[in-house]
Amino acid sequence: MSKVVSPLSWKDGVLSLLDQRKLPLEEIIVENKTIEDAYNSIKDMVVRGAPLIGYTGIFGMALFARGNRGASIDEYKKAAEYLNSSRPTAVNLAYELDRCVELIDQLINAGNSEKIEDELISFGHAQLDLIHRDNLAMANIAMKDLIERFGKRKYRIMTLCNTGYLACGPMGTALGVISHLFENDLIEHVYASETRPYMQGARLTSYELKKQGVPHDIVVEGSFSYLMKNKLVDAIFIGADRIVKNGDTANKIGSSTLSIVAKHYGVPFFVVAPTSSFDFTSEEGSEIPIEMRDENEILSFRDQRVAPEGTSALNPSFDVTDANCITGIICESGMIDPVTRENLLKVTGQE
Ligand code: MRU
Repeated sequence: MSKVVSPLSWKDGVLSLLDQRKLPLEEIIVENKTIEDAYNSIKDMVVRGAPLIGYTGIFGMALFARGNRGASIDEYKKAAEYLNSSRPTAVNLAYELDRCVELIDQLINAGNSEKIEDELISFGHAQLDLIHRDNLAMANIAMKDLIERFGKRKYRIMTLCNTGYLACGPMGTALGVISHLFENDLIEHVYASETRPYMQGARLTSYELKKQGVPHDIVVEGSFSYLMKNKLVDAIFIGADRIVKNGDTANKIGSSTLSIVAKHYGVPFFVVAPTSSFDFTSEEGSEIPIEMRDENEILSFRDQRVAPEGTSALNPSFDVTDANCITGIICESGMIDPVTRENLLKVTGQE
């Protein structure tokens, strides 16, 4: 594997983020020294991917603590709300920020306000260690399922968006499954959907797969039916930005279309996500806020206008895959199959 640049690191009061907008052409680090820097890095997608947005939130709170010694719990709550308003769909950000606020509240009540920055940093590193363990557990569950389903052979796997270490810190969710299968000599080929308009598949997933030496092709979203009708895909693995109680799952725009085509052709479709991506306060997908991004992401490419002047674009960044189109949801505590409300709450230990 060629040298990996960490997407997020903390040293001496500086949060360093690999600028994912510039990949794969340049590997540039953006230094974040204030909570506003962290907010802008999430909003402008220097950093992206549900878990990594969450960890950026934790270190963003540490930056706030560093710059505002002696702040009250209400000021910390406001800081958390501010960070949480940067991007609406991935629930991981709110999940991690809620835990930060709980931790800060305990420290203030115990008279340990001076420890807040250090404790937040320790918490951020602990969460990065945790996702590594969770990702490995999910990859093993996926590998076992594939071996039971198809026998031990090399598989043709399809994925969409980027769900690797660029989205998680260590390893990755759906792309972590693919890396794990590759390390176990179980990958024949990977199809990475380009993921218009932001090109997370073409730019970021292929960047990771290339570094690892995994054989792959980038495909356009319009090829879903071609690939499955011609039996080129054994199984599909995607990530999630928010999974609600009935199993409906928000993920990158195009995921729902992929699931419908997969169901039509009988190709197993799996969602891979840690429980920090589950929203146990929402019952069904219609409650999930869908981020609308700037139309220029569609109308232009790398600052070059591709549509005629005067044309507008609609740019929902996510869609909701219906639970009945998902073969199984894999989280660190097991496989949710069939995807029903009861089963989801049972496997995640919420019943
Ligand atoms: O807009 P992005 O790039 O942040 O969207 C990312 C995705 O949709 C990922 O599939 C999702 O966050 C899961 S990452 C493990």
